[in-house]
Amino acid sequence: MSDKDRFLIETLGASNYESPLKLSTTKGDHIFNFVKESDKLLFDLSLEQCSYFLNKGQDPLCLEKSGPRKQIFFDAKNTTAAIVTCGGLCPGINNVIRGVVMALHYFYGVKRIIGVPYGYEGLNPAKGHELIDLNPEKVKDVHQFGGTFLGSSRGAQDVSIMVDTLQENKVDMLFAIGGDGTLKGVNAIGEEIARRNAKISVVGIPKTIDNDIDLIDESFGFETAFDVASPILRDAHNEATGAYNGISIIKLMGRDSGFIAASAALAMPVVNFVLIPEMDFSLEGENGFLTILEERLKSKKHAVIVVAEGAGQQLFEHRQVVKDASGNIKHEDIGIFLKEQIGAYFKEKNVPVTIKYIDPSYIVRCAPANSSDSVYCSRLAYHAVHGAMAGKTKFVACKVNNHYVYVPISEVTKKRKKIDLEGEFWFSVLQSTGQPFSLG
Ligand code: F6P
Repeated sequence: MSDKDRFLIETLGASNYESPLKLSTTKGDHIFNFVKESDKLLFDLSLEQCSYFLNKGQDPLCLEKSGPRKQIFFDAKNTTAAIVTCGGLCPGINNVIRGVVMALHYFYGVKRIIGVPYGYEGLNPAKGHELIDLNPEKVKDVHQFGGTFLGSSRGAQDVSIMVDTLQENKVDMLFAIGGDGTLKGVNAIGEEIARRNAKISVVGIPKTIDNDIDLIDESFGFETAFDVASPILRDAHNEATGAYNGISIIKLMGRDSGFIAASAALAMPVVNFVLIPEMDFSLEGENGFLTILEERLKSKKHAVIVVAEGAGQQLFEHRQVVKDASGNIKHEDIGIFLKEQIGAYFKEKNVPVTIKYIDPSYIVRCAPANSSDSVYCSRLAYHAVHGAMAGKTKFVACKVNNHYVYVPISEVTKKRKKIDLEGEFWFSVLQSTGQPFSLG
């Protein structure tokens, strides 16, 4: 595939049905217009990129605008949809499920919607989980709760068995709410469906508390996570200032990307050091973390340190590679390690310190979505449904450059998103904390 086709969305076939949505095709009538297949948005907004393509006589790279199409692929009244939620929890999953069910039922008149229990396990009959019938009555209140009322699980299942289950249950479209592994999984399901020449649309709605899905602006629930974390930082600061040479260490989720730690620190600007997986730092040496911390205590008599759980793994001499069911490396406990190292350093120097170690752990990801995430979840759900009804497949509904678009799953799963240490976001964090560009 040439680079210009990178963002093309696959479809199951011609859209022969008229959409039941009573929308407009003309401007000025105060009714929302159907989105046309030709409606595209620039992928890279920089003038430099735009000129680069235009000078070559080509269109710049574009993304497909999401939203309702006038002609759709599925005959709504004879359509069956299924929803599955996989991987770790994240605020807003229930809002997305609710949004998908409501949009299918009320906008399009889809009457049969199946909830798949406990992630991809629910598509493997050998696991013994019963599929659940979903309707507006069942989901009307679920947005008030964190977690996923369908249940989730980590890990892959046999793709062929899962497609068998979809076919046996006459499913026409599968909505998979999950992170990198889930999206790769549903893409593989889409490929198996194509091999069988079946007409089932597979749609991803990216979910990751770590905000590490590439290309998209932000994953839903991420904002709620740092919203939950920021008052913890505020109170940790109170603990730190409440003692002479008080040090609060707060460990926040973030396996390989430090977005929660960095965003929480920006949201609650009482933090003096943010340590994230993307940065290399050492404890020892004249520019090492411990020396800089000591200088901070000398001048201010307290310090607040936020550490992402995947930070500082290079500091562990004998690391064993242990993976979780999703294939992610389980990290050593950097929080406890830092607490011990800091304690030992100041004891050795005979400097009195009071260390408070705080690990909010899963609390940041099991809360219900805040208002802003709730808005985001509903809108993502609606866009996902419009794309599926139009027969698009192997795509995610997401937001890029602040616009709702469809992007091929294969594009967002090429690599994990990480904080760019040369980017303005990380620079903002450093401006807020006052920590040096490098530690060590
Ligand atoms: O989903 C991402 C995440 O919350 C990471 O931040 C964390 O490292 C991991 O999941 C925890 O995994 P589990 O839910 O399997 O304990």
